[in-house]
Amino acid sequence: MANALRLGSPGAALTSKRHGGTVTWPFVEVNTHPAPVQEIAVHICPQCRKDIALPFILSGGMKLHLRDRLRYRLLPSPVRNVFLAEYSMIYSEHDSPSRPNERLLDIAAAAIAAARKADVLDIAPRLGSRFGFPNEAINLWPGVNYRLLAGLMQTLAPKQVVEIGTSEGVSALTMLKYLRPDASLTTFDVIPWRNISQPRGTCLRESDFADGRLRQEVADLGDNATFGHYSALLSGADFLFVDGPKDGVFEPRFVAALQTIPMNCIALFDDTRWWNMLKVWRELPWPKLDLTSFGSWCGVGLVEIRHKR
Ligand SMILES: C[S@@+](CC[C@H](N)C(=O)[O-])C[C@H]1O[C@@H](n2cnc3c(N)ncnc32)[C@H](O)[C@@H]1O
Repeated sequence: MANALRLGSPGAALTSKRHGGTVTWPFVEVNTHPAPVQEIAVHICPQCRKDIALPFILSGGMKLHLRDRLRYRLLPSPVRNVFLAEYSMIYSEHDSPSRPNERLLDIAAAAIAAARKADVLDIAPRLGSRFGFPNEAINLWPGVNYRLLAGLMQTLAPKQVVEIGTSEGVSALTMLKYLRPDASLTTFDVIPWRNISQPRGTCLRESDFADGRLRQEVADLGDNATFGHYSALLSGADFLFVDGPKDGVFEPRFVAALQTIPMNCIALFDDTRWWNMLKVWRELPWPKLDLTSFGSWCGVGLVEIRHKR
């Protein structure tokens, strides 16, 4: 295993002593959210391609870091030679706090039909090989979310879309492609899109914002006062894509805050099978439908958030 891993500052590449030299890990996901937990997912060795992924959960010390190292030692992945492996858990369904409803099943069926025909290959060149996998993989479906997003945009034809987590802007570009001419897409992040760290940088361009339909808000909706400031915008959303930090802090706060305002929207939660998202997804109080087989391998689910307050 990569026991000589050196952690860099957020956004920096990681290096590992192996194969008689230093290997730079090509794809490092660094969450720069100023919460106490930062998650860094390091992928398999680019040379031997044999090690499983090794995520480091940093929480102000070595405790969680060591726990995760131990977990990977004690429970090595039974599947080898994969690009990325993550721990998850599966749960019984009969005692789930919420279940799919007819509306979600109908929306999902229509969105899946639309996703089959959707095509986001035109966005692929914007990726510029930044992810360590072929750019065209964003069009992989099922397996990756973007065509499901496209299918939902076509099915719901939302007037007001809100996204949590702009990052490089790939999901924003996908939704923008299918956004009605009279609709808006507001994407939230704590990092301005122009400042997305190098070497990856952003996939967005100034021209994407030119017609005014796409705009970014740099704000942390995990903060109560900030959430209050944007509550009218959130209440007016008819489609919400939740793809934020998954740091174990933001999403529980955001879900709790959503319950305090009137809402009537369909939401797509990303990475629902990611360790930090298991409890969030399980405990969502609204009708929900797991769509992992028709979206991202990390888990994805459709939710109907409807309540008056
Ligand atoms: C997984 S990435 C989003 C990927 C993007 N939706 C896509 O598919 O192209 C998560 C993003 O959430 C951002 N983030 C972290 N904390 C946040 C917060 N409190 N509110 C909104 N975004 C946040 C991170 O900076 C990061 O850019």
